[in-house]
Order: sequence, then C-alpha cells, then structure tokens
Amino acid sequence: MKPVSLEKKILVTGGAGFIGSNFVLHALEHGHNTVVNLDDLTYAGNLMSLEPVRHDPRHIFIKGDIADRELVRTILREHQPWAVVNFAAESHVDRSITGPESFLTTNVLGTLHLLEEVRDYWRQLSQNGGKQFRFLHVSTDEVYGSLGLEDEPFHEKTPYDPRSPYSASKAASDHLVNAFRHTYGLPAVITNCSNNYGPRQFPEKLIPLMILNALEGKPLPIYGDGLNIRDWLYVNDHCAALHMLAERAEPGENYNLGGSCEKTNLEVAEAVCATLDDLCPQSPHRPHKSLLTFVKDRPGHDKRYAINTSKVNRAFGWKPLETFETGIEKTIKWYLENKSWIDSVKTGKYRDWISQQYGMK
Ligand code: NAD
Ligand code: TYD
Repeated sequence: MKPVSLEKKILVTGGAGFIGSNFVLHALEHGHNTVVNLDDLTYAGNLMSLEPVRHDPRHIFIKGDIADRELVRTILREHQPWAVVNFAAESHVDRSITGPESFLTTNVLGTLHLLEEVRDYWRQLSQNGGKQFRFLHVSTDEVYGSLGLEDEPFHEKTPYDPRSPYSASKAASDHLVNAFRHTYGLPAVITNCSNNYGPRQFPEKLIPLMILNALEGKPLPIYGDGLNIRDWLYVNDHCAALHMLAERAEPGENYNLGGSCEKTNLEVAEAVCATLDDLCPQSPHRPHKSLLTFVKDRPGHDKRYAINTSKVNRAFGWKPLETFETGIEKTIKWYLENKSWIDSVKTGKYRDWISQQYGMK
C-alpha cells in the first residue's frame, strides 16, 4: 500500500444528510483538498444539498452503504484518507419509535462493518500516516438519557442511559467505537452533540418543520405541553468543531459539543414564528404564533438535554460563534431563499432530480 498522500483527503460518510452536507461544504471551503463522500441516499440523503460543489473536482460522491465492507475497503485503498468522519446514521427519534430495525442495521451493524474496514486500513498505513489518522464518530447527547430541571448538564463522564431506539442504537455504536479503541488501538474520537439546526435539515425535525408549516399556514405541532428542553447548536458551529477535532484531538478522547442554549420547544417555536413575522411582513399567516397547536406527546419523550462543553472549550478554546437569535435568522433566511430545495424535498422530486443529474436511482 502507498504511504499516505500529502494531499489531504478525508472520507465522510452520510455527507448528503443535514450535518454531513454542511460539513462537506465547510471542509471544502476551509482547505481540505478532497472530500470523498460515501452516502447511501436514504430518504434523508439529498444531493441537492451539495449542489454548490457538484462540479467541484475536490468532491467525490459515492453512493453506497457503510455496511458494504468491500466497497468501503476499495474506497479506503483508492483514496487513502487521513481521516474518516462518520455521520451516516438513521437519525430521527420519531421514526425509531415506529420502526427501530433500520436504526440497529445502520447505526450498530453499519458502524461495526465500517470500523472493521477502517481498522484494517489504519493497520496498513505507514507509521507516519498511521499516527496522523483519525476516525471521528459523530454521536449525540441523547445517549446520556434525560435530565431533570435541576440536574447538572451532561459531561463526558455522565453514564450512558439511552431511552429511545434511536439513542440506544447510537449508544451501541459509541460502545463499539470505544471497544475498537481499547481492543485494537484504533485512533478514534467520539463527539456527543446536542440538537443541531440550520440550512439543509430535512423538514421532519422540529425547526424546519415549524418554518415550512408556518410559511404555508399549516398547524405547528407541539408535542405534549411544549416544555421539553433541548440545547441548540447552529450546524456550522458543529462542523467547525468537528473539523478542528479531526485534525487536533488526541485519539481515545470523547468531547461533548453544544450551544449552551437551552430552550423549551415552545420557546423555539415562538422564536421561529417571531422571526418569520419580521422577515415576511406580507405573510397572510401573521402572527405565525397563532398556528401553534398542541398535539399528543411522543412516547417516552425525554424531558431535558443540556451539555457541559468545558472540556472542548478548555482544550481548544472552541465556542459556538452563533447565538440562537443569529442562527435562527440565518436558518430561516436560507429556507426562504431556497424554495426549490424545499419544493423538491416536499414533493419527493429531489429523487427524480438525483437520478436525472447523477444517473442513479
Ligand atoms: P440525517 O438523517 O440528516 O443524515 C444521515 C445521512 O446518512 C443521510 O444522508 C443518509 O442517506 C445517510 N445514511 C443513512 N444510512 C446510511 C448507510 N447505511 N450508509 C451510508 N449512508 C447512510 O442526519 P443528521 O441530522 O445529518 O445527523 C448526522 C449524524 O449526526 C448522525 O450520526 C446523528 O446521530 C448525529 N447527530 C445529529 C444531531 C442533530 O441534531 N441532527 C445532533 C447530534 C448528533
Ligand atoms: P426533533 O427535531 O425530532 O429532535 P430530537 O427528538 O432528536 O430532540 O425534536 C426536537 C424536540 O421537538 C423534541 O422534544 C420533540 C419536539 N417536537 C415537537 O414538539 N413537534 C414536532 O413536530 C417535532 C418533529 C418535534
């Protein structure tokens, strides 16, 4: 096998999803020569999110499953990345409640197969490249379970206590990464991040759903009493942290990432409505707040997530750049300016577009 090329190549999995696509754009903007992007294009994968780099030779898109060991092996051999950043996952809690199996298949078995190939690749790297290599596993704060209102925020030593099929599958994947670090010495880093928001998020998650429904004058469904609390991080701040950690984190470390921005779901929905009122003064649906509708609660709905980010802050001085106010405004403006992305996602036409543009189903 060739020694690691000095040209920087990074393998991103799940790079057509929400955070992954933002990460690909961020990485290309901030200096990686080439991003190899392996994504199976499930309902959540959308190549329209990567339209800005469609003709950029530094972006190599490969459709495929992280569980396909032969494909992963070929990609690693051919491209010799200095890092693998693993975003590929089933990610929606509500979907995991109605159908948990695909979460186990991708998040657990898929991660296992990916890890096996990455371990074999890393073992064969030259000594130099092997030291530089990192496997960065992108995970969630939901593995820690649910906090009471008075509890301290999650820190890196908080015991895992996942409570939804989604968080259980992510916890299992974290344990596997940890096992590969301890058993095989794989230089892996795990990040556990709070709720992200920003451009290119599939509109079944809270914030894009609120924006899109409000624009159409549809009800804005609030589960239960709307008092469940999440910590919110603007997606580009997450991408910047991941980029930095892929380059600088010590193998074997875990980092919690978050916005230090706890809000009830009602506060989030109201902020979306107020920002839309300001940005769309002609909207027939103003005040958008009147569209808020309380609906049946999610089964097993976690009450509160909050994140202590002092470890990453102390080690690297990392802090989010956006406040919730600036981040929400940027997010809503992106959705207002990208109607074709929204329409294609809503009608499912992005699938036709993908097969037309890329000759794939
Ligand atoms: P997403 O659902 O928007 O994207 C997931 C991507 O993975 C899609 O492009 C999909 O096509 C791809 N994918 C799914 N199964 C695959 C497989 N078997 N092989 C290859 N590709 C596959 O998810 P997201 O919100 O961008 O989250 C990305 C990662 O970050 C996930 O691992 C998630 O657990 C984690 N995370 C998300 C958040 C959040 O708020 N969204 C917060 C913390 C951590
Ligand atoms: P979601 O975006 O699904 O992320 P997660 O479950 O991973 O935190 O939901 C965020 C919060 O918003 C969660 O407490 C559930 C709530 N929620 C609603 O109240 N209404 C909705 O329509 C959705 C999708 C979520």
